[in-house]
Amino acid sequence: MYGEPTADGWRAWDPGRSKLGGMFELGFQTGLSGGETVLYLGAASGTTVSHVADFAGPTYAVEFAPRPARDLVEAAEPRDRLFPLLKDARTPTRYAHVVESDVDAIVQDVATRGQAEVAVRNARFLADDGRLLLAIKARSEDVTAAPEAVFESALDRLREAYEILETRRLDRFHEDHLGVVATPK
Ligand SMILES: C[S@@+](CC[C@H](N)C(=O)[O-])C[C@H]1O[C@@H](n2cnc3c(N)ncnc32)[C@H](O)[C@@H]1O
Repeated sequence: MYGEPTADGWRAWDPGRSKLGGMFELGFQTGLSGGETVLYLGAASGTTVSHVADFAGPTYAVEFAPRPARDLVEAAEPRDRLFPLLKDARTPTRYAHVVESDVDAIVQDVATRGQAEVAVRNARFLADDGRLLLAIKARSEDVTAAPEAVFESALDRLREAYEILETRRLDRFHEDHLGVVATPK
């Protein structure tokens, strides 16, 4: 889909081009092993979410920018479990009628200001034992602040709706990003 090599019908997943790929490579306990229902926030043109939909169950992909969304729709054409939604992840009420409830995982990579707020607003979709797999980009919150301070403040907001299970920097693959695994409170 993005020039990645393939073997036996499977596409290589480049952790340098995907926060979730980086989280897998670093050994995060994602809880994803196949067949899960996934809500993916910040799908862009579908690089990562296409991999997710190749092994997961129903995968709802939210993206609000029309240009990448066009490629996302193309990526969804051959994938009958991938459902693109041209929506703003800050207003989940606009897609709540489409996304089934109790999803197993929310994957979030919106790289925009208010990343924790987006995760909190979408917590309503997660099953009680579901997982949030979140990448926080420090520079999207504040280009001048120290990344650690940005991450602490985002985690404080997240804790209002989630229990944090795991955090680790993704710098080996994505500079100044924090990977977070959390579950609803
Ligand atoms: C870093 S890119 C995502 C890359 C993608 N997750 C991947 O690995 O293939 C961030 C994307 O989030 C989208 N985005 C940012 N804020 C959003 C919002 N409020 N609602 C929906 N999409 C948003 C941007 O348009 C952009 O395409």
